[in-house]
Amino acid sequence: MLLTSCQQSKTNNSTDSIAIEQASFGILKDGQAVEIYTLKNSNGMTLCVTNYGGTIVSWTAPDRNGKFEDIVLGCDSLTGYLKGVPYFGSLIGRYGNRIAQGKFSLEGKPYQLATNNIGNHLHGGITGYDKVLWAATPINGEEPALKLTYTSPDGEEGYPGTLSMEVIYTLQKDNSVKMDYKAVTDKTTVLNLTNHTYFNLTGKSGSTILNHELRLNADYFLPVDPTLIPTGEIRAVTGTPFDFIKSTKIGARITDSTDIQIKYGRGYDHAWIVNTSNDTLRLAAVLTEPTSGRTIEVLTTEPAVQFYSGNFLDNTIIGKTGITYPRNSGLCLETEHYPDSPNQSKFPTTVLKPGERYRSTTVFKCSVVK
Ligand code: GLA
Repeated sequence: MLLTSCQQSKTNNSTDSIAIEQASFGILKDGQAVEIYTLKNSNGMTLCVTNYGGTIVSWTAPDRNGKFEDIVLGCDSLTGYLKGVPYFGSLIGRYGNRIAQGKFSLEGKPYQLATNNIGNHLHGGITGYDKVLWAATPINGEEPALKLTYTSPDGEEGYPGTLSMEVIYTLQKDNSVKMDYKAVTDKTTVLNLTNHTYFNLTGKSGSTILNHELRLNADYFLPVDPTLIPTGEIRAVTGTPFDFIKSTKIGARITDSTDIQIKYGRGYDHAWIVNTSNDTLRLAAVLTEPTSGRTIEVLTTEPAVQFYSGNFLDNTIIGKTGITYPRNSGLCLETEHYPDSPNQSKFPTTVLKPGERYRSTTVFKCSVVK
């Protein structure tokens, strides 16, 4: 099913805020129907979300001349996602990013998860939350929203506890997209939920993000081993290619292999620790694309942000309008807890116990610089 509803809403730049459109996006192998929802605000910004993986399929934002273009990577159809994509736009869990060798212990009990990424567990395993069907409830209004719920059964992908989740995407009047995550469990478990949208603010699919300028509000980052598991060291960014305290072109130091961390990451694929502040919603990043003027500020309650510069994209995935995505044609800013926290007691805990309420919020605020 082509992306007709989203395409129509993309071309229709009228500023009437409309009720959330719902359309069929296809059928899963087990016969379950998949839907796609188009949210639009009064500025004409649209967000298209399918309940398969809670995936953001398209997201249009204006450039400095008011031209709306799609700023995220994805596929035109459910078939494209089912063929296998590197988490384009999806909700990620139960544990976002990596757990070393898929192993951890909880309350004295050992657990072994799938090792689906060079000997480690990545993004919730073989069938992570990017590959499940969420129940969707459209919430109409001036700031349209989509509520997505999923209950992950005890033992799913090897994780303990039945985890009931609710994620709400809200398209706000100020052209920001707010993502609110909630979860409860009936047994002690670990979790680290995030969204894995790949941005390219040029609006030109297949072009590079190396000219984008990035500021990361982070004095420290987590160095990794050759399999991208944090070593446990918390390293100052000063004097390294990982210093984005001042806005810097992503391509400026991405091949600086004098730093072994760039080699291990094949560029940037690391967690930065968001500088603390008195606000619960803290500024993590500011991404700017100079030719269009598009800018996104990322604010979050999470302690870290994984900046991934699309190093594994390799022109093999057929994306929207049939183009393929080359290396560094999209970047991710995955707000998160630290990778491998279940095995690193110095890192903030990711344990959730019965009776506790998991809460997290991230806001991606779009604007333009003149
Ligand atoms: C995260 C990881 C990367 C890569 C992408 C998905 O960003 O840190 O190593 O696996 O997911 O391809």
